[in-house]
Amino acid sequence: MNYALIGGTGVEHFTLTEQRIITVKTPYGTVEPIVGKLANRELVFMSRHGRGHVTPPHLVNYRANIWALRELGVRKILATAAVGSLSVDYHLGELVLFDQFLDFTKSRPLTFYEGGHHGVLHVDMTEPYCSAARQVIVNAAEDLGLVVKNGACYVCTEGPRFETPAEIRMFQQLGADVVGMTSVPEVVLARELGMCYASIGMVTNEAAGIAAHRLSHAEVMESIKKLGSNVAQLIQATVELWSPDQECLCVSANVEVGKF
Ligand code: HPA
Repeated sequence: MNYALIGGTGVEHFTLTEQRIITVKTPYGTVEPIVGKLANRELVFMSRHGRGHVTPPHLVNYRANIWALRELGVRKILATAAVGSLSVDYHLGELVLFDQFLDFTKSRPLTFYEGGHHGVLHVDMTEPYCSAARQVIVNAAEDLGLVVKNGACYVCTEGPRFETPAEIRMFQQLGADVVGMTSVPEVVLARELGMCYASIGMVTNEAAGIAAHRLSHAEVMESIKKLGSNVAQLIQATVELWSPDQECLCVSANVEVGKF
């Protein structure tokens, strides 16, 4: 099972052929992903927030999810994430691929390497989102005639509340382009286990204080509904183009464990 899709807000369901739910036990808890086929390739589908959007961003069991994918042999993860825009360059309804992140989370377990028998890993984050995987998504988008912006700095907040306008102004000054609540530590944990990870961001709203109105989850869901079919096509086309080979540095990110 080489490939996985982690569906974020609005992508709680994704129909695969020959799909079935499996149970994977991990040191961090039990996960029940769906396995099946997409474009005739075996794929694991995981709904980040659960099938009924029941788990808020700060309580997602990121370690169990990523561990389970590794356990299933996954090498490449495609994720989706709803984001708010902080910049005039990222418009409502656009698709963006993150290339950097700023981590403003507060209370989440953020590593598999807790010291002791786990060892210590200071994993490289020079290029957090696999550039080879992003290029495949760009190629898939071109084939479909979809516009995808390759490169955006994602600021991850703790949630589940939305940000204050003052926070958004601070994040703008720090260089963030879009804001969400889930990409960290997911992207970090994938790298710690040597998997490629790329995320398709769906710009669902203008961030707090930029929009002339208050933010609501309903607004986010409404935007996602409009983007839904484009995103589904892009996921399928990406999986079709993907090869299992990891010709990038993601795979060797954890060779330095404990060698300090
Ligand atoms: N802030 C945080 N997370 C989000 C937003 C936002 O404005 N939109 C979608 N996810």
